[in-house]
Amino acid sequence: MNAFGFNSYGPPTILEKFQVPQPPIKDNQVLLKVLGFGLNPYDAALRSGNHQTERKLTFPFIPGSDAVGRVIQVGKEVDNNWLNQLVIAHPYSGGYGEKLAISAKKIILKPEQMSLAEAASFSTSGIMAYHALITSGQIQKGETLIIQGASGSVGSIAAQIAKAQGLYVIGIGNSKNRQMMTDLGIDEVLAYDQDDVPHLLAKRGDMVLDASLQGKAKLVGTAIVKDGGRYLSLNQAPEHNRSPKTLVPIIYGKDLPALSYLCQLYVAGQLKLPKTIIRHATIQHLIAGHQALLTKKDPGKLVFLYD
Ligand SMILES: NC(=O)c1ccc[n+]([C@@H]2O[C@H](COP(=O)([O-])OP(=O)(O)OC[C@H]3O[C@@H](n4cnc5c(N)ncnc54)[C@H](OP(=O)(O)O)[C@@H]3O)[C@@H](O)[C@H]2O)c1
Repeated sequence: MNAFGFNSYGPPTILEKFQVPQPPIKDNQVLLKVLGFGLNPYDAALRSGNHQTERKLTFPFIPGSDAVGRVIQVGKEVDNNWLNQLVIAHPYSGGYGEKLAISAKKIILKPEQMSLAEAASFSTSGIMAYHALITSGQIQKGETLIIQGASGSVGSIAAQIAKAQGLYVIGIGNSKNRQMMTDLGIDEVLAYDQDDVPHLLAKRGDMVLDASLQGKAKLVGTAIVKDGGRYLSLNQAPEHNRSPKTLVPIIYGKDLPALSYLCQLYVAGQLKLPKTIIRHATIQHLIAGHQALLTKKDPGKLVFLYD
């Protein structure tokens, strides 16, 4: 089968299209014909080699942890009713391939009203947002949550989960995304490029979620969490904020409760997914997509669909 991936660490131009054997499925897995996949900043981090200490890759490596596809084969332990269903998938890797073998515990039926592009866009960021707030942060109704990077993929979903849970949400993003953050139902919106965030939000957050790209906002996070509050970073937390009282470690819970909650919110009209930027799945578009990942100018999620 065809797959996009790389044979060594390096810049976006090392991405290539190659032929690999179709993945065999285990008894608890299904085989998907992938119809589309999304890009995450993590894909770029893996490709560049920045995550070698935490996750050493074997080559050729096929990235991709957001995918949508049709079930074309089921393992012995998997219910036959999955056959032919359109599903949202959250693979550990392999989403950039034409076929994907994945545990039946890492897929969920695509809601009818959700487009293919949307379905390919949010599993990683949505699951992260859910487990950051619900499983790890244990957010409570009435609390004030500050989200750094509220205009991003994880942050925008986190903001809507928090609103659905009855929190007061303050979101921080670029000034050009103020309206977009307001439209998500965020109560107060600030711009990291215009507002004096540490001063305006000093010690306001019962919890602060740093969902900024590569933790660019990490120094500000320290100033805006309440004494006794919680601080959770999706990237590396600042050294001087490593007080065990404040720093909340990320607990990576199971995929299905998160996916199921997110699909329910979506169907109920309480979750707007980030705008999708759709490209055909070609190697040229993929290289350009990886180049855009870390220099992102506009909000939105890059999604690649097959014809
Ligand atoms: N630990 C994990 O398992 C895990 C999982 C998912 C994501 N992550 C990490 O979490 C981060 C966010 O991921 P994502 O997919 O949501 O990325 P994204 O869609 O690119 O969003 C990045 C966000 O960061 C904001 N930002 C950029 N510079 C900032 C600054 N100086 N101050 C405050 N905010 C700033 C952006 O705002 P504007 O767009 O308005 O400029 C945007 O809201 C990434 O670094 C990613 O690697 C980690």
